[in-house]
Amino acid sequence: MAWQGVERGGDGQPVWSGASAAAGAVELQGGAQEERALVRGAGKVILDLQNISLAFGGVKALTDISFDVREHEIRAIIGPNGAGKSSMLNVINGVYHPQHGRIVFRGEERRKMHPTAAARQGIARTFQNIALFKGMTVLDNIMTGRNTRFRSGLLANALWWGPARNEEMLHRRKVEEVIDFLEIQAIRKTPVGRLPYGLQKRVELARALAAEPSMLLLDEPMAGMNVEEKQDMCRFILDVNHQFGTTIVLIEHDMGVVMDISDRVVVLDYGKKIGDGTPEAVKANPDVIRAYLGAGH
Ligand SMILES: Nc1ncnc2c1ncn2[C@@H]1O[C@H](COP(=O)(O)OP(=O)(O)OP(=O)(O)O)[C@@H](O)[C@H]1O
Ligand SMILES: [Mg+2]
Repeated sequence: MAWQGVERGGDGQPVWSGASAAAGAVELQGGAQEERALVRGAGKVILDLQNISLAFGGVKALTDISFDVREHEIRAIIGPNGAGKSSMLNVINGVYHPQHGRIVFRGEERRKMHPTAAARQGIARTFQNIALFKGMTVLDNIMTGRNTRFRSGLLANALWWGPARNEEMLHRRKVEEVIDFLEIQAIRKTPVGRLPYGLQKRVELARALAAEPSMLLLDEPMAGMNVEEKQDMCRFILDVNHQFGTTIVLIEHDMGVVMDISDRVVVLDYGKKIGDGTPEAVKANPDVIRAYLGAGH
């Protein structure tokens, strides 16, 4: 995929934002942006990745990468195709186990962990390629997001027994809240496979939110969307962050969006970290500029 939102200006330097139509959507948020500024930078480090290296056979996906994520921030991971961005998310939620490095989550060093354990710790995610049950309704797909929160046993659930019944009602209520929040009431009974791509991406976000995560990992949530869908998705991501204080780690190719909505950005290139800081600092980093203009032209 080509870089979006980055053009070479008249002076040969990259023009980062404004090229993205979605950037305008975030400006519409006005007040929300100002309120977010209060949250910005206030959180403590909740995820500390130290010297992470991950290889698949001879392929070095990640080499000696260190960065941290602060509570309540929107932390973007950017970089060209194959840079290691999705691999990094897979390390964070326990799908891949790095050969080297330490992962400290909420002050505790994490040993090898299964994705369901990460989910129980409050980490939810969406995938680069939509991972939903296409034949199931929107409602039922979102309900699967509550799986890690079910307490009653199989028997009680099968018999629709006292505690199981109460629990199911609680889950349904939470799911309906998410449906209202993401404004997808009209499609709640529609099989996911019948929905346009942009709405499927929104349903995937809904499923992740149904788990009530404290940290949300989003792998290219706006890829393949039209301008209007991108604007909506931007607004929802900001609303989740603002209203629930959810920490967000976001992989996104549209630089206008990244520069507008993230607090800090880490830049990967060929599995190495080449930049880390505020959008302004990253935009001015010569290594980042080189990687971007090299990739896009
Ligand atoms: N399961 C795997 N087995 C083998 N190689 C893998 C695996 N997952 C990732 N890789 C390799 O690791 C490198 C980084 O891939 P990754 O998917 O993390 O990049 P990315 O930055 O997400 O790229 P894109 O922007 O295209 O999504 C690539 O060379 C890729 O081929
Ligand atoms: Mg990827």
